[in-house]
Amino acid sequence: KGLRVADKGFLNTAVIQSRITYIDGEAGVLRYRGYPIEQLAGRSSHLECAYLLIYGSLPTRSQHNHFESEVLRHGVMHSDAQTFFRSFRYDAHPMSMLTSAFAMLGSYYPEANPSLQGQRLYTEGDRTSLENMDRQIYRIIGKATTLAAMAYRVRQGRDFVTPPTGLSYTGSFLYQMDHLGEENYAPNPVLEKALDVLFLIHADHELNASCTTVLQTASSLVDPYSAVAAGCASLYGPLHGGANEAVIRMLISIGKPENVPAFIEAVKRREKTLSGFGHRVYKTSDPRSFIVRKTADAVFAVTGKDELLETAMALHDAAMKDEYFIKRKLAPNVDFWSGLIYRAMGFPLDFFPVLFVVPRVVGWLAHWRQMMLQEGGVKIWRPRQIYTGSGKRDYMPVDERG
Ligand code: CMC
Repeated sequence: KGLRVADKGFLNTAVIQSRITYIDGEAGVLRYRGYPIEQLAGRSSHLECAYLLIYGSLPTRSQHNHFESEVLRHGVMHSDAQTFFRSFRYDAHPMSMLTSAFAMLGSYYPEANPSLQGQRLYTEGDRTSLENMDRQIYRIIGKATTLAAMAYRVRQGRDFVTPPTGLSYTGSFLYQMDHLGEENYAPNPVLEKALDVLFLIHADHELNASCTTVLQTASSLVDPYSAVAAGCASLYGPLHGGANEAVIRMLISIGKPENVPAFIEAVKRREKTLSGFGHRVYKTSDPRSFIVRKTADAVFAVTGKDELLETAMALHDAAMKDEYFIKRKLAPNVDFWSGLIYRAMGFPLDFFPVLFVVPRVVGWLAHWRQMMLQEGGVKIWRPRQIYTGSGKRDYMPVDERG
């Protein structure tokens, strides 16, 4: 009662105050805790930005070393998880496995579940509670790469690899994915750096669909593993994290650059979607798309150019000068170029959304921590609706229905 207009798709609803990530969609600006994404992508690392996003400031050297060693230490999975992964069909989508794996992980750590503990777990100023929270953060970031690599290897019938020591977070991920038992195996440093930059720019993007899902879920005070599993499910969709996979499928369907004009016309007739274009917040190019484009060149110098690159460039150029896209302020988003890099690096197509989840758990956890510790405690997220169904009706037994 009293509510007349529904804000469909939350176009104009702010549900939280946040100090984490700033976006100016008109100007194409993205900052983590005040630092421009371009500076961070050029000079920082994914784990350093993870610390920044979660705790609010760039770490000192000793804070960084402590954070890194805790995250990497928590990458090791209990051996039971191997049986869990082997229970999936040989062709299971890796996102189905990853989503389920995070939910499964929650069962290992009842200490993170307030309903099992019968109390509010997380309080600012209470050391035990903050340490408990940190432990879940280290575990989720550390195990994200391990679970992702397990989802990758199980489909290939390969044995699982224990996280190595002495490698960076991204290096350890590549090791767990690629290692085939060779002696002195080390990931290619250019590819490792490129993936780290991609991880860094995917780490947070304020209240996108998956982060909102994580917070909505966590607002009932469920454990963070269940909330992260919900975030994975949301990210999986083609309008969100599934878009990088959809871009490649679209480029494959277009084929050669000469087919681009016909595809653009089909988009304008609303028969097709130009995946990797458009954004709820950006009304100009997504600043991350420039970083990805630059990173692509570094990767192609090692792997060779992707055969779809020319089609992608033709599509990009055609859309950027077409009235349909200009009028609607549709420009490339982060997903337009990233799939080409993942493909060149040899990742299977359906693994691309996993490469989005691994870094994005950082942003989800930063927002989760901020919400759990917010002044006045957590308020459950319970929006209202405008009811448009029937008025009161009386029940009729089945034989009397016409
Ligand atoms: N291709 C063709 N037309 C489009 C596209 C597109 N990619 N995106 C938006 N439009 C049109 C849309 O049909 C509408 O036209 P009209 O006003 O004539 O009805 C207008 O542009 C406004 O779009 P909207 O759908 O109201 O915008 P939204 O904010 O609700 O949706 C979006 C944002 C990202 C879901 C949408 O742009 C889209 O579907 N893009 C393709 C999928 C994609 O690349 N997703 C990745 C997003 S970035 C990374 C991430 O967050 O995961």
